[in-house]
Amino acid sequence: MSDTRPIGIFDSGVGGLTVVREVLRRLPHERVVYFGDTARVPYGTKSNRVVQSFAVQDTLFLLRHDVKMIVVACHTASSVALDHLTQLFRLPILGVVEPGVSAALKATRNNRVGIIGTRGTIHSKTYERLLKERRKEVTVVATACPLFVPLAEEGWLDGEVVRMVARIYLDSMIRGKVDSLILGCTHYPLLFPVIQEQMGSEVVLIDSAEEMAAGVEERLKKDGIENRNSGPPEHTFYVSDIPHQFREIGERFLGREMESVTQVDLESADLIHPAEIHDARVK
Ligand code: DGL
Repeated sequence: MSDTRPIGIFDSGVGGLTVVREVLRRLPHERVVYFGDTARVPYGTKSNRVVQSFAVQDTLFLLRHDVKMIVVACHTASSVALDHLTQLFRLPILGVVEPGVSAALKATRNNRVGIIGTRGTIHSKTYERLLKERRKEVTVVATACPLFVPLAEEGWLDGEVVRMVARIYLDSMIRGKVDSLILGCTHYPLLFPVIQEQMGSEVVLIDSAEEMAAGVEERLKKDGIENRNSGPPEHTFYVSDIPHQFREIGERFLGREMESVTQVDLESADLIHPAEIHDARVK
């Protein structure tokens, strides 16, 4: 049996393509439908309530594409809206927090774990809570690094400016003697080299995008919903604003070309309420 339905992946914008890149690398037979909410990005500066309602709309949009699973690539949405989504919907919904936490706990030797992300992610304390729930003796050092997002989007991945910003942001991690650091934001894998340089080679950086892809593979297997067809899959990309910009910046995040990017208007789309989708996957 092969389940040819696509995997739905959403993010506040372009950053989630780092997760798509890893999913495609690991699962080349799977088809992806991606939604980037470029009209309402950033999520990282917004309240929990607002991010939750955006996340529901993003999920409903993807459900219209007959997806077999939802991957919440955005760390902010995973931190503040995952529980809300799993209460509303019945299909498998995976967030990026859990895989990063598991990898960090595996990697740490001194039980001092760092987490960097958007303000929303850090203020939610979701990473911190989960790390401590899993291992109570762990010490967590958390810092928001909001400037990393525009730097990554502008392609400033190297050089004096990004090094200086990294030095300032990561100072608390170095003083806190963390030996593993979770890159808790979609954009940070692009800054991996500069972050590693600041932290020193002894510190293990956790690339959540890679961990997420492994989690997706595991879940597809467990639920018996893998796509075993060998033909080259076609991926579809949707955004809520400025598709050409998404494409330009996105190809750097994705590491390959995007065939086409389509603009959609979530506000006017007929996806008002979960109950109106006649689909068994909505609880
Ligand atoms: N995608 C967001 C995250 O991973 C970063 C950009 C934003 O603030 O929306 O948290």
